[in-house]
Amino acid sequence: MTGGPLIDTFGRLHDNLRISITDRCNIRCFYCMPDADVKFGPRETILSFEEIERFARVAARLGVRKIRITGGEPLLRRDLPDLVRRLAAIDGIEDLAMTTNAVTLAAHARPLYDAGLRRLNVHVDTLDRGRFLQITRRDLLEQVLEGLFEAKRAGFQIKINAVAVKNLVEPDIVPLALFGRRHGFEIRYIEFMPLDAQSLWDRGKVLSADQIIETISREVCPLEPVPDPDPRAPAVEYRYTDGQGRIGVIASVTRPFCLNCNRLRLTADGNLRYCLFAIEETDVRGILRGGGSDEDLERTIRENVRSKWLGHEINSARFVAPPRPMYSIGG
Ligand code: 5AD
Ligand code: SF4
Repeated sequence: MTGGPLIDTFGRLHDNLRISITDRCNIRCFYCMPDADVKFGPRETILSFEEIERFARVAARLGVRKIRITGGEPLLRRDLPDLVRRLAAIDGIEDLAMTTNAVTLAAHARPLYDAGLRRLNVHVDTLDRGRFLQITRRDLLEQVLEGLFEAKRAGFQIKINAVAVKNLVEPDIVPLALFGRRHGFEIRYIEFMPLDAQSLWDRGKVLSADQIIETISREVCPLEPVPDPDPRAPAVEYRYTDGQGRIGVIASVTRPFCLNCNRLRLTADGNLRYCLFAIEETDVRGILRGGGSDEDLERTIRENVRSKWLGHEINSARFVAPPRPMYSIGG
């Protein structure tokens, strides 16, 4: 293999791979999925663990150092600890994490930990049962909290993702922040992005990072930016001035961070995307299943990175929402 690391035409180094392992989900968050008639991909298009591992090995040889397993809901794939073991064993992978909604995490936390997974992002938008039902269309808050605490007991390092939707989650900001402080979870507030399946998004529904920081600083404890932040991480972190923890904000809409992007995404059906919002994608399933070599995979990954655009244009009139909604792209 030749050619050095994955650098795009804007000089950005790509060392972070997000792998979606299923587009299925057991809840129906409105900012991601429709309520009914979800269009799932055919089962036979979903990559096997062997195929995922092979792709990840080639990516690691090209300089990928971080992998995040995501979905849909990744816990819906059977034998997930097997995939964790395969990915954790790849030379070069320094960090392996997973994003989950935690609905079935209580039963899976320990086997995943034993397989080598150490970091989880759990999405919990609210601690209010009624609003949980309203957002996810499922009455499963209790199971989520059970999963969260079981994962904590198993030893996971846990961050909580909360999507910030205006005129909806304002009452949840402070309770979540207090919950995070009490239990040692960093809460990350993610501005609502135009990735829902029903085109419900508009700018007026984005609760901005600035508003969240202001509310928490006023009602919980003053916040200050964490010094020496990692410039390539999407979350900007703030710490409580009393030393009791920190929060993160992912301000994709009000403070786009595309200039620092180091991420690539593999969809569950084996397509490579250089951006959440990419319109075009590169087929790798065909290579994996059609007798393609590792060199073919390498060439395809390089080409995808080379064709990467500067960034999304959510804030311009030119913005076009991607053809796949979030559950089918993978966070
Ligand atoms: N905007 C912002 N975040 C979203 N997520 C899902 N859909 C959206 C959206 N439209 C979040 C989920 C999950 C992460 C992968 O992405 O909360 O935690
Ligand atoms: Fe499922 Fe995640 Fe989409 Fe919610 S955001 S419906 S948990 S895939």
